[in-house]
Amino acid sequence: MSINVQNLVKRYGALTVVHGISFDVGKGEFISLLGPSGCGKTTTLRCIAGLEDADGGVIRIDDRVVSAPEQGVLVPAHERQIGMVFQSYAIWPHMTVAANVGFPLAIRKVAAADVAKQVDEALEIVGMRHLRERHPSQLSGGQQQRVALARAIVGRPRVLLFDEPLSNLDAKLREGTRIEIKRLQRELDVATVYVTHDQEEALSMSDRVVVMDQGRITQAGTPKELYRRPANRFVADFVGRASFIDVERANGAGWSTASGIRLKLDDAGAPEAQRYQAMLRPESIEIAPGATARVEGGDNVLEGRVLESHYLGAYTEYLVDASGARVKVHSRSDFDVGDAVTLRFAPEYCRLVALEEKRA
Ligand SMILES: Nc1ncnc2c1ncn2[C@@H]1O[C@H](COP(=O)(O)OP(=O)(O)O)[C@@H](O)[C@H]1O
Ligand SMILES: [Mg+2]
Repeated sequence: MSINVQNLVKRYGALTVVHGISFDVGKGEFISLLGPSGCGKTTTLRCIAGLEDADGGVIRIDDRVVSAPEQGVLVPAHERQIGMVFQSYAIWPHMTVAANVGFPLAIRKVAAADVAKQVDEALEIVGMRHLRERHPSQLSGGQQQRVALARAIVGRPRVLLFDEPLSNLDAKLREGTRIEIKRLQRELDVATVYVTHDQEEALSMSDRVVVMDQGRITQAGTPKELYRRPANRFVADFVGRASFIDVERANGAGWSTASGIRLKLDDAGAPEAQRYQAMLRPESIEIAPGATARVEGGDNVLEGRVLESHYLGAYTEYLVDASGARVKVHSRSDFDVGDAVTLRFAPEYCRLVALEEKRA
């Protein structure tokens, strides 16, 4: 139960929206496609599902080629044994819950007794069996989403595909459903591709995240790799909160800011680039009262002044002007706007990122 995508290309007329992307999803693996609106996530998912015809490349599901347009292979969607959940749920209002869930089996002409059995199994898994005779209008948004989930898993699909399935739910329900989908996916042990523009969803649910931008993959890795070592500014910005300070190679070793403050950075394996920045995550910066950097000396110590303060309950987000750089800091200590402060951070939480070249 795996998916293999190689050099997938998709065009709409003269416009290429997926530019030859490649990735694998192993058996039981949960992969997210993460990126801003319009970057090609849905198109990629629909090409895997067979709801769109790809223009180039090869897609395999369990080693079976389901899409290779250059060889004239495009297996129709209903033969790909895929379970898919859409943002809109796409459940039919005139059908009962059971009829909705059984629909994919009915069109495959599965015997009625088997349909009933498999529908009940699927409804049991999502905790909706007692509501099998209801109509969608008698269900909450979260319950409707579970019907869509049950319908996706009913035929024992080879792979599961999700397209922003939580974006119509309110925040509390979204979190609960996130955990439920993840539990379900583990139980079924099925290769899964999950499309989202929500970085928190992608980080918390995925074994690996594939970050997309303008129809290309900018980075693929585990949630920790992406958060700790984003390959470039785009990924650093998109995944989590961060501040950036322009840096240059210092004479000798290490790095320094424009105002000559020396920084020790995590620069292992950073790509070659014309320009670099140091990325700081707000929760990994220590903030202390007073301007003490000059007294202390040492690396990774910046003096600054609090510009803004936003109380968020669990912590306060401060915006600090540190030698001209604007740095976000999360802290449980109290400071006032205008306070002089000193910032410190460990080199392993200060990652060198490349500023991308503009693409022609
Ligand atoms: N049927 C279509 N015809 C023409 N352009 C489309 C069509 N579907 C999507 N696109 C374009 O393809 C690009 C990628 O869209 P999509 O895959 O939906 O992005 P995402 O899901 O990441 O928001 C967008 O520029 C979008 O406008
Ligand atoms: Mg989309």
